Amino acid sequence: MARIAVVGLGPVGLASGLAFALQGHAVVGIDVDTDRTGAIARGAPPFYEDGLEEALRAGLKQGRFSVTDRIGTAVPTADYVFLCVGTPSRPDGSMDDRYLQQAARDVAAALPPEGAPVVVVKSTVIPGTTDAVVRPPLEASGRPFHLAMNPEFLREGRAWEDATRPDRIVVGANGPEARTRMRALYADAGCPVVETDIRTAEMIKYATNAFLATKVAFANELANLCQAFGVGYDEVIRAVTLDPRINPRFLVPGVGFGGSCFPKDVRALVAAGRDRGVAPPLLEAVLAQNEVQYLRAIDLLEAELGDVRGMRIALLGLAFKGGTDDLRESRAIPLARTLIAKGAAVVGYDPLANDGFARLVPEAACVASLEQALRGADGCILQAEWPELTKLTAADFLRSMRRPVVVDGRRILDPAKMQGIRFRRIG
Ligand code: UDX
Repeated sequence: MARIAVVGLGPVGLASGLAFALQGHAVVGIDVDTDRTGAIARGAPPFYEDGLEEALRAGLKQGRFSVTDRIGTAVPTADYVFLCVGTPSRPDGSMDDRYLQQAARDVAAALPPEGAPVVVVKSTVIPGTTDAVVRPPLEASGRPFHLAMNPEFLREGRAWEDATRPDRIVVGANGPEARTRMRALYADAGCPVVETDIRTAEMIKYATNAFLATKVAFANELANLCQAFGVGYDEVIRAVTLDPRINPRFLVPGVGFGGSCFPKDVRALVAAGRDRGVAPPLLEAVLAQNEVQYLRAIDLLEAELGDVRGMRIALLGLAFKGGTDDLRESRAIPLARTLIAKGAAVVGYDPLANDGFARLVPEAACVASLEQALRGADGCILQAEWPELTKLTAADFLRSMRRPVVVDGRRILDPAKMQGIRFRRIG
């Protein structure tokens, strides 16, 4: 049993910390936001993640997980200190390390005179950041420590599942003691544990997300081409992925990728590459392709309706994907704004993200039910794969809509079940 401090209680910090608590470690979560620490201490995570609330309540009840806003109370007795703070995008796309700098300074100030905890960077950072940003304040403290880098691969909405059942652990460490201590921590990981150096571990995270984003962009571009040539994407990709070199997962075409990771991480890698004289044209093209992919859904809607001016369009699923309330980079935002700019009235519905969306796109009306959104609508676009949306039938559309025109932006529905509907989808 180890004593673990987790700095930064977003989905990554909270899911990772609770996964350690579930394994029997003593975990203290730390965040500067006292509203957040207060809510978490009451067993109420300030964001939605499937299964996380139950895990938090169990961790609190068993006394394996506790919360504080004072880093000085947790770090001095910790064997491991995980840094899980955000590294958001700056306006130019580069990675903003201000929160990581502050966390490193705070940890350095709290290091004990002996005990030498392993300080572990879990935040997504550009290669070289751990050594350039985290190591200096720790060294300046004059106190002993070890340093490691352990990237996370948690999907939003699935953070608890991915934290408790990882398909691989990556550990970057530059010293034998750090490597030994990290190997002990992940001894029962139940999956491959990749041991490498710190800079390589940092790059593995970006390489993973950049490749996944490229896969999605490729699927979207191929779907657009299939549509132009009048061939079915599904039939093409089914045969293509019979090639054992081409994994069939993550090739679902739609309105483009959103979320707080793919856009941020690809932009950061592009900016960092440019800084080092290797601007990556393929990744720049992935971002450019993704920026306009949502327009394909509007093209399909206009192909059925003509000019949408004065029409009522239902936009179903507003979060960047189903299973979360996160609206960051959601493709529903440019979809709504473009339709409104074309003179349409947009009525939005999402099981979790209605309120946030109404603040981001105040000209859109957000309603409390699917039926209300569809009632009297001249057209409908599906943008996030919520279970509630997958249950929609042709009868639901025919019963409620003025014109049964449905554009599926996420391959949620089965075209074979859409008799009587003017049903379109990308690819
Ligand atoms: C991603 C990575 O999956 C995760 O490992 C990493 O730690 C964080 O970033 P996340 O952003 O939560 O996770 O969402 P994910 O489920 O990966 O989907 C990302 C975006 O791609 C979503 O907008 C989704 O709709 C889109 N997508 C995904 C597609 O359009 N097609 C696909 O086949 C898969």
